[in-house]
Amino acid sequence: MSTPSGNPSASKIANVMQETRVFPPPSQFTRQALISSEAQYRELYERAKHDRDGFWGDLARQQLHWFRPFEEVFVGEGHQVAWFVGGQTNLSYNCLDVHLDRALGDRTAIVWEGEPGEQRRLTYTELHREVCKFANVLKRLGVQTGDVVSIYMPMTPELAIAMLACARIGAIHSVIFAGFSAEAVADRNQDARAKVQLTADGLYRRGKVLPLKDTIDEALTKSPTVQHCVVLQRVGNDVSMQVGRDHWWHDLMAATSADCPATPLDSETTSFILYTSGSTGKPKGIRHTTAGYNLWVKQTFAWVFDYKPTDLFWCTADCGWITGHSYIVYGPLSNAATILMYEGAPNFPAEDRFWDIIERHRVTILYTAPTAIRAFIKWGDHHVDKHDLSSLRLLGTVGEGINPEAWMWYHRKIGGERCPIVDTWWQTETGGIMMSPLPGITPTKPGSCTRPLPGVVPLIVDEDLQPVETDHGGMLCIAQPWPGMLRGIWGDDARFVQQYWTRVPGNYLTGDNARCDSDGYYWIMGRIDDVINVSGHRLSTIEIESALVSHPAVAEAAAVGRPDDLKGQAIAVFVTVKIANPSAELKDELKAHVRKEIGALAVPDDIRFTSALPKTRSGKIMRRLLRDIAAGKEDISQDTSTLEDYSILAKLRGDEE
Ligand code: WT7
Repeated sequence: MSTPSGNPSASKIANVMQETRVFPPPSQFTRQALISSEAQYRELYERAKHDRDGFWGDLARQQLHWFRPFEEVFVGEGHQVAWFVGGQTNLSYNCLDVHLDRALGDRTAIVWEGEPGEQRRLTYTELHREVCKFANVLKRLGVQTGDVVSIYMPMTPELAIAMLACARIGAIHSVIFAGFSAEAVADRNQDARAKVQLTADGLYRRGKVLPLKDTIDEALTKSPTVQHCVVLQRVGNDVSMQVGRDHWWHDLMAATSADCPATPLDSETTSFILYTSGSTGKPKGIRHTTAGYNLWVKQTFAWVFDYKPTDLFWCTADCGWITGHSYIVYGPLSNAATILMYEGAPNFPAEDRFWDIIERHRVTILYTAPTAIRAFIKWGDHHVDKHDLSSLRLLGTVGEGINPEAWMWYHRKIGGERCPIVDTWWQTETGGIMMSPLPGITPTKPGSCTRPLPGVVPLIVDEDLQPVETDHGGMLCIAQPWPGMLRGIWGDDARFVQQYWTRVPGNYLTGDNARCDSDGYYWIMGRIDDVINVSGHRLSTIEIESALVSHPAVAEAAAVGRPDDLKGQAIAVFVTVKIANPSAELKDELKAHVRKEIGALAVPDDIRFTSALPKTRSGKIMRRLLRDIAAGKEDISQDTSTLEDYSILAKLRGDEE
């Protein structure tokens, strides 16, 4: 059935998952865990739900340093909220200075390994010093509280230093994953009105050098607001430095004082923006705050990863994604944790690199993505068998749902059947983890993110906004505000309201479909909209389509996801061209074009030329239908009653290639 809004009835989503395996937490894990009984979880959960302000007020006072105490825990409603009103704190101070004050300065903050194999260790004292110096560098370049700093850097300690330096002075960082194209960087810089660009000469990826500065040079021709560019020397390749605009990181740091007190910032001060794809194409800059975000990532890190001072925590994400922001930098460092940071690819020099790293550094907690796990499975068990993984005590996943069979492999092969797995559901927008097992108490079911954390009140509704029954899929919403929630889309309040707060009034609409089973366990069922999730990264169809259409030979394009064992989804595009008899070479050209426009991760896996696209009478491309065709399904399960021209269906199935 199709509704006037053009969306399938969410409550009609089939529940095809029949997973009955349950894995209770190992008792020795439970004994030492921060949350170690069901009663303790219940108590936290009920208090956070029924005495929200008392609960978060107490935690905020305990967990964060306040230059000025807050007067009110929460004001507002719906999308207009403020937490810890009247208070002043600082993210960088909470990640660094508080630990020095508690004589933890000698503790290792970052254990870093470069792709070629170099290693560095920074204690909290050393990290603090570097951050203070770089904050002074930023100030000298004219950066003030509220200015946007665009960061396009390799996974080096300097990337974390740059983020923390921004936070120290209240500058807003916008980290852009270093795989994005010059176009994509320029778009984001323009939208954010970035004042300073941070980058490196290059980065190592799978043994090769990627010339980051060249990409930035191109991006900066279309980033008129950027006045300065700071370049970290990472690989030593030749780069051109524009006099007056470009500066070497090491030159600026050389003569700089390490005295830079953290700026007291109002709780609601924007800490960073992070661009993520939306269904309407233009990337949206998700805006997070200072105090609420800090508390959320600090507390969720402690609950979910059960961190102990003897742990070495490794999150394999890149800082260019929210996972890196929240669980490489701000969450762990707020907890005085020791993190491992790895620069490169998981298959360099060989497919056992991750296991080699775990064995050599004695990593105890591993947090990675299902897409990586699927790659490891494909590469073969012999890579794992070569290594001693007995240091591991906890495993985590993030970014997309994990297939139960991949979960089982992770559990057996990596966890040795002794490590709990925390399947963490959350979003760029939520700031930090929302639903996850608590490793000491929650029996896990492969494929379920289990239960909400204290402070998270989920609600699943159908198309008519009615709460769905047990085991029925529907739109997942969050019914109560939480401190880590996004506060807006940079420069686009209307889109913020429209996207998250309109369809289900009074609730935050996640954009995911989900169901809740009879044990109160949540199962995420995928996106409501058309976003394609490649290797855990969200890409919107329209962005890919727009890139294709910008090629002179292309008239029209539709992008859909089709199932892919490795990447979760692969990108299939249907293209109508302006020329007769399009060639195979044109396909390669289009792939190269998308790579240039958006970046390597948006390059289509399949390109099919077609004479026309299936459309509704109102002119909308029917992507759902294309999805079935791309997946090779014989029977189209989709409603075709709104299809404008039925003959197209036969053509689409028949005349490709
Ligand atoms: C979307 C958010 C979470 C940080 C990295 C991705 C999907 C994420 C899970 C999970 C099922 C998941 C959802 C969500 N997702 N984690 N554990 N199980 N789906 O952040 O790019 O903002 O993507 O990723 O669809 O809405 P993001």
